[in-house]
Amino acid sequence: MEKDILILAVESSCDETAAAVVKNGREVLSNIISSQIALHTLYGGVVPEIASRKHIEAIDGVITQALQEAGVTLEDIDAIGVTYGPGLVGALLVGLAEAKALAFAANKPLVGVHHIEGHICANYIENKDFKPPYMALVVSGGHSHLVYVSDYGKYEILGRTRDDAAGEAYDKVARAIGMGYPGGPKIDAAAKKGNPNAVKFPRVFLEEDSYDFSFSGLKSAVLNYVNKQKMMGEPIVPEDIAASFQQAVVEVLVEKTIHAAKERGVKQIAMAGGVASNSALRETMRKACEKEGFYLSIPSPILCTDNAAMIGCAAYYEYMAGVRDGFDLNANPGLKLGER
Ligand code: KG4
Ligand code: ZN
Repeated sequence: MEKDILILAVESSCDETAAAVVKNGREVLSNIISSQIALHTLYGGVVPEIASRKHIEAIDGVITQALQEAGVTLEDIDAIGVTYGPGLVGALLVGLAEAKALAFAANKPLVGVHHIEGHICANYIENKDFKPPYMALVVSGGHSHLVYVSDYGKYEILGRTRDDAAGEAYDKVARAIGMGYPGGPKIDAAAKKGNPNAVKFPRVFLEEDSYDFSFSGLKSAVLNYVNKQKMMGEPIVPEDIAASFQQAVVEVLVEKTIHAAKERGVKQIAMAGGVASNSALRETMRKACEKEGFYLSIPSPILCTDNAAMIGCAAYYEYMAGVRDGFDLNANPGLKLGER
């Protein structure tokens, strides 16, 4: 029998300080997440300087807890995986410096991981037989990508957002209708009580056959609608606006993903990123995949938003492919998927 490979993974690219221990890429022995969301809610969004400071305070404890819960010591670990981009540079540096220090002290290999690759790999954790090729829809607070995954570690970006990311649009619209940060979960909940056909917001498909996204026009349409209603002294029903906005986002995301999967001739679709925990998106994609005959993989909501288990999974496949990073590995806030 082959030896088990244990990865200790660290993630600190935005407002979650996270560490996990992952066995053979797919078995999560621990997954510790210390969220700063409550703190940033006070300011209506993530404040980078505060995020970095909070990561410094939390990271040692989070890593210790991840090792303890997994029932292992640093000695048992085969490699240390860490997110080195994209993300907030000050936040990334905290996790990276910690991972390098541990790798140096314990004499373990270091494997740098792309944050979006981590999100995509979250699909391998609960779904043990799921493997490439597939079409991935990655929708987070910072990214909206349609990615053709031909093999482990092989990514072709077919489309990306030209302006706001999907999660960013959720967050900005939520702020405009007084729901606060983070907007995604709040709009998701409010939309359940609203009418998705109450307001006809635009569906932005861009040029025919383009897999790019654009959400800033939709965001402006919501803001204009709210201002118009206020000026005319008409009532604003936040639940209806939330449901109508969400419907406009979800229709475009689902249609483009199905179109891309058909064009590439893949049989499987995967979703990833914080917005993939959106209940309307999950349900609409599930129905579309059923109708069109695609197998659909979506991680549990806790593995869609930022966590380190997904980084451990991605690090495992990179490690097995021979990737090792030096202590000169730097944080790269603009790191492109598929680049090192
Ligand atoms: O992947 P993630 O945790 O962090 C980034 O890498 O950006 O994504 C965070 C984003 C936020 O914009 C948040 O509002 C959104 O995911 N989000 C949601 C939901 N839960 C989180 N958006 C829509 N519906 C949700 N249930
Ligand atoms: Zn993320």
